[in-house]
Amino acid sequence: MTSVLSLSSVLLALKLCSGEWCYKSQFSCNDTCKGPDHWHMIFPKCGGQSQSPINIVTRKVRHDSKLNGFIFEGHEDCVNITVDNHGHSAHFTLPSSVRLRGGGLLTTYKAVQFHLHWGEEKEPGSEHSVDGERYPMELHIVHIKEKYSSLQEAESDTTGVAALAFFFEVTAQPNKHFERVIEALGKVRYHGNTSAILGFRLADILLPASTLSYYRYTGSMTTPGCDQIVVWTVFHQTLPISQKQLALVTGQLLFRTEKPMTGIFRPLQNLNSRIVYTSVKSDSVCVLPGLFTLFLCLFYALRQQRCFG
Ligand SMILES: *[C@@H]1O[C@H](CO)[C@@H](O)[C@H](O)[C@H]1NC(C)=O
Ligand SMILES: *[C@@H]1O[C@H](CO)[C@@H](O)[C@H](O)[C@H]1NC(C)=O
Ligand SMILES: *[C@@H]1O[C@H](CO)[C@@H](O)[C@H](O)[C@H]1NC(C)=O
Ligand SMILES: [Zn+2]
Repeated sequence: MTSVLSLSSVLLALKLCSGEWCYKSQFSCNDTCKGPDHWHMIFPKCGGQSQSPINIVTRKVRHDSKLNGFIFEGHEDCVNITVDNHGHSAHFTLPSSVRLRGGGLLTTYKAVQFHLHWGEEKEPGSEHSVDGERYPMELHIVHIKEKYSSLQEAESDTTGVAALAFFFEVTAQPNKHFERVIEALGKVRYHGNTSAILGFRLADILLPASTLSYYRYTGSMTTPGCDQIVVWTVFHQTLPISQKQLALVTGQLLFRTEKPMTGIFRPLQNLNSRIVYTSVKSDSVCVLPGLFTLFLCLFYALRQQRCFG
């Protein structure tokens, strides 16, 4: 009797687990979940030709003059948001009063949720990369067209979703606006845990729309089912985070299996025939780094002179 029971529970476990997707970091002999290379076996769309994330090769991006500035709505409002650990990541739900216009988008989109992708304390974990460089962490803000009431409804529309992506860069100073997000993550350690942030302003953790320039391409959701319905915006400007804060983000949560939730990013996908556009002419992108390099050179030249003189 017991052996029959345990056999059936093993079979049940196998049935449950083999249908589960997971990140590379989750895969182990004990967990037979499907890692990113096998997502397409259970979710065929993950094997499509317009998948995300991608590596952005700046030498090949094309300027598109239709990519104007964004207009953020509701970013200044104080809202109550909830965060939940759903086993692969933690989602912060946003009210539909948070909206997005401009930015070369054909219509208004409303926010659904935001979440983060990270690696480990010292391993970068952004999903997109620029010229092969992976950033420590990446923020995604997911929006759907105003006319839809859910993400599911947007699935039949090739531009149903607009996703904003911000990279983080490690700075010496902590990002104090990000403290509440980190604190909330600390409260949802286990799969299924939920917490709230009262009086949250999205504007506090982002940069003003007028200061932003960006890359644009069409792609997919970066988790299964990988629907190819996303207009991606990857911002040139990065958000700051200290090493200590990053360690808190990457060290607080657990997967469904109670293993540490680290390495939650999908590997890079092929660009195939797609083109990545940029909102600024390459000239203006180069002026700043050029000047900066010049200053650096001058600085080092002067310092060297002093040392030797
Ligand atoms: C796999 O399961 C065994 C027995 O339950 C356990 O002792 C071991 O630590 C597990 N290994 C991993 C990598 O989770
Ligand atoms: C946020 O929650 C607080 C406390 O529960 C409540 O007093 C307030 O009215 C809520 N604000 C909004 C905008 O819902
Ligand atoms: C979080 O989830 C764990 C495991 O399911 C549970 O034991 C714990 O009570 C939950 N904590 C909160 C604050 O909901
Ligand atoms: Zn994401």
